[in-house]
Amino acid sequence: MRRAQRNLWGRTGGHVGLLAILAATAVLVASCSDSPASRNPPSSLDFQGEGSSIIGQEWWVQFALGSTVFLVVLGLLGFIVFRQLRRPVDLSVDMQEDPRWLNWIWIGGIAVPLVIISVVFAFSVRSMVALGESDEPEVLTVQVVGHRWWWEVIYPEQDFRTANEIRVPVGERVRVEVTSEDVIHSFWVPQVHGKIDMIPGQTLSTVLEANAPGSYRGICAEFCGLQHARMHFMLVAMPPDRFDQWLERERQQASEPQDDLAQRGQDVFLNSTCVYCHQIRGTAASGGVGPDLTHVASRLTLAAGTLENNPGNMAGWIVDPQRIKPGALMPPAELTGEDLQALLAYLRSLE
Ligand code: CUA
Repeated sequence: MRRAQRNLWGRTGGHVGLLAILAATAVLVASCSDSPASRNPPSSLDFQGEGSSIIGQEWWVQFALGSTVFLVVLGLLGFIVFRQLRRPVDLSVDMQEDPRWLNWIWIGGIAVPLVIISVVFAFSVRSMVALGESDEPEVLTVQVVGHRWWWEVIYPEQDFRTANEIRVPVGERVRVEVTSEDVIHSFWVPQVHGKIDMIPGQTLSTVLEANAPGSYRGICAEFCGLQHARMHFMLVAMPPDRFDQWLERERQQASEPQDDLAQRGQDVFLNSTCVYCHQIRGTAASGGVGPDLTHVASRLTLAAGTLENNPGNMAGWIVDPQRIKPGALMPPAELTGEDLQALLAYLRSLE
């Protein structure tokens, strides 16, 4: 075995190989942490919602039981080894003749596991019931549609659409209805709630409740193709009065361009291929394939959590989305420098 390893790597080859792997890992880790959403990765042990708290209790009970069993078995194993070393016992004894040995199997192998598994099962059923339907009404319904690779977010009662950002009032029950436009995705905000599958042609729903104000990163938890790892969203839990203000602003149509540059930008937008995929409410652009851009400037991220939403990133995204997110459905825009500046001025004005 050792010889085979040496042949494979050589003495120094082993070190070089290890260094290469470490360097490659460092590059990978560095390139993975460039998106704003991944800068504060959510811990699924940081419970900030009703659903995640129930899942958290379940997690800790299972962890405690599992660890206890693991430690007891390790202890017994150690005990046997040391005892055998100090005072060897004849292990070839026939178990049928000595019931003391058989008791270990009855108690340790059958009775104790049965009790532990029953406890885990009962606790899991309790969690499932707690996570299930409740008589308490929800204050709001949000529909989320999975796309490769972004999230369409619809507020049906308020009649508007946004993308990659779900805002909810803190401490309130919010019904989330999910489906998918293309392949199976999975909706997951680890700090707030468990996962729910997004299946094409089917609508599933769950109820979310965030216990503390804050921005919680949501991720796609089902492999869905090339940019699965860049399919994030933010769940923003806001105090109810600020949430109402946000809702009021989002419901409104896009603001009219305030200066010549923005006006030219709007013309660029309306005369380019952008309009086939994007909607800006209040203008002739009514495409439904890509994200609604009516209030794009006020969003936290671009390209589903891939980029921070600032002018430079927006320009980069418009000019060459394939470089940032290869495989995304958005084609590059061919614009002159001046048209791009004007378009940016317009899009940045869409607060
Ligand atoms: Cu969508 Cu993974």
